[in-house]
Amino acid sequence: MVVKVASGKATSSNEVVVWKNSYSVGIPLIDSQHKELISLTNKLYRSCMKSKEYSKEVFLGVIRGAVDYVGYHFSTEEKIMERVRYPAYGVHKKEHADFVREVLKAVDQLSRDNDYNPLNFVHYLKDWILTHIAVSDTAMGKHLIVLKQQGTLQNMTLKVKQVDHVGEGGCSVQKRFVIG
Ligand SMILES: [Fe+2]
Repeated sequence: MVVKVASGKATSSNEVVVWKNSYSVGIPLIDSQHKELISLTNKLYRSCMKSKEYSKEVFLGVIRGAVDYVGYHFSTEEKIMERVRYPAYGVHKKEHADFVREVLKAVDQLSRDNDYNPLNFVHYLKDWILTHIAVSDTAMGKHLIVLKQQGTLQNMTLKVKQVDHVGEGGCSVQKRFVIG
């Protein structure tokens, strides 16, 4: 079965968005997290395709995991930008904060309003992620690539806390990364 999505692109019924190499920002650490965001968007999409009652319960569970991952991903990017004194750090960070606010608003609406269409949320998520990657993250990536070529990122590491509220009782893990 083939489904037409808002962008006009046809994809399989299991995926609303497919990773393309052109989405790469040139920094493997960030690309791997973006791939995970795309995978979570597809997971949400699949949960919408099930029966309404089932999907809401599953959907909210997947969203909680997605919100945790988004928080972890944004703090990874923000720590990198802070560390390298990226000039557009403030604007980029505000984009993240505005997005998180919108997502939490949608989750709240979804949990209270039975007429809320979860598919609209999935499309909002997909469009925001792709636009943010194409514009803001690509600009950040270009800045990081220059620093990498200058050797500035060599051996530069950062610690990021990953929180998982979906796991039993919730858990938090400190991860250490090499930026470049
Ligand atoms: Fe970003």
